[in-house]
Amino acid sequence: MKYFIVTYGCQMNVHESEKIAGILEKLGYECGQSREEADIIVFNTCAIREGAEDRVLGNVGALKRLKKKNKNLIIAVCGCMTQKSKTAEYLLSTFPFIDIVIGTFNIPKLGDYIEAVKKGRQLELWEEGDIDEVLPYKRTSGENAWVNIMQGCNNFCTYCIVPYVKGREKSRQEENILAEVRAILSEGKYKKITLLGQNVNSYGKDLVPQVSFAKLLHDICKIEGDFVVSFMTSHPKDLTDDVIDAVANEEKIEKYIHLPAQSGNNRILRLMNRKYTREDYIKIIDKIKAKIPNCRLTSDFIVGFPTETEEEFEDTMSLVRYVHYDNIFAFMYSPREGTVASKMDGQVDDKVKHERVNKLLALEKELQKEVK
Ligand code: SAH
Ligand code: SF4
Ligand code: F3S
Repeated sequence: MKYFIVTYGCQMNVHESEKIAGILEKLGYECGQSREEADIIVFNTCAIREGAEDRVLGNVGALKRLKKKNKNLIIAVCGCMTQKSKTAEYLLSTFPFIDIVIGTFNIPKLGDYIEAVKKGRQLELWEEGDIDEVLPYKRTSGENAWVNIMQGCNNFCTYCIVPYVKGREKSRQEENILAEVRAILSEGKYKKITLLGQNVNSYGKDLVPQVSFAKLLHDICKIEGDFVVSFMTSHPKDLTDDVIDAVANEEKIEKYIHLPAQSGNNRILRLMNRKYTREDYIKIIDKIKAKIPNCRLTSDFIVGFPTETEEEFEDTMSLVRYVHYDNIFAFMYSPREGTVASKMDGQVDDKVKHERVNKLLALEKELQKEVK
């Protein structure tokens, strides 16, 4: 019996798929090379932008012919997109050949749902789940091992769906993370540990007693072995000096920080609920540059946020010019149902969003040609 997993979205979701693969292998499935030869196909979805959801719908729709050929094929859809009950119900009613629709918190029970499919279609969306379950991961990222340190997000940036589909921040116990890192390293084939969380800088604030992200970094670096530590994603409002110092001083930590700015304009940052100003952001960048020479820096930007004017967009351009990133990811604002920004007046035309994203990416291309 073979499985095939199709993954959309962020690194955390890629890691989530490693968990799904681990569960399926425990059930006796082997990794298949294509949809055609699979006995079970799992779509692990993303809801961050409309485009991500459209791709899922198109690709799930295309499975109809496979199901026709193989009546026993099991098709499961899970992840951030299905955590929204409206979307989950839409999927089930539009695609009668889907067997299982589950949300982000139901994955540990995937085996039970597969068993139950024999009795009929499965739809279940839990509201929230625990983080510390010890599941077998099937690691798929070569010499790099992803390690989840927390789940969820408390920030409610006004454009973002993540807090609604991933729940509130929950940190794993530090000793469980350290034990996982030790176990990974003892296998001998991993050279890099990448710590994952939507906002790694707020790691440990919900633990009793609290543990800081900087302490976690130092404790991981104390583990013996020849390996590199990396992490993502950092939120500028929580990137504290002790974390910057850890990156600067710990040899094992990669000199790289992904620090999404989203916009270079203070009015837009306020509307986005990012809780820092352009000046705060620049201060952090200057500190990083001073303390960590040659630190690689990357960022995410959203263009065409509701009411963004041409001048306000120019502030994003000038911030990109000032920081001179190693790379940026630029996204056109995509309204997500249920978020605050989707209900704001002054939604920006698609044409304008396209122009701005192209302008920003062209600037980035120019900057990459220049010596830093
Ligand atoms: N937790 C991370 C980002 C997770 S989502 C952080 O706070 O930085 C990854 C990126 O997708 C975000 O940084 C943002 O730039 C983009 N994004 C999120 N919601 C979006 C939306 N509704 N439209 C366009 N881009 C969005
Ligand atoms: Fe979304 Fe903001 Fe949380 Fe990042 S910090 S996941 S952008 S709400
Ligand atoms: Fe990641 Fe997309 Fe979910 S970016 S957290 S998979 S909405």
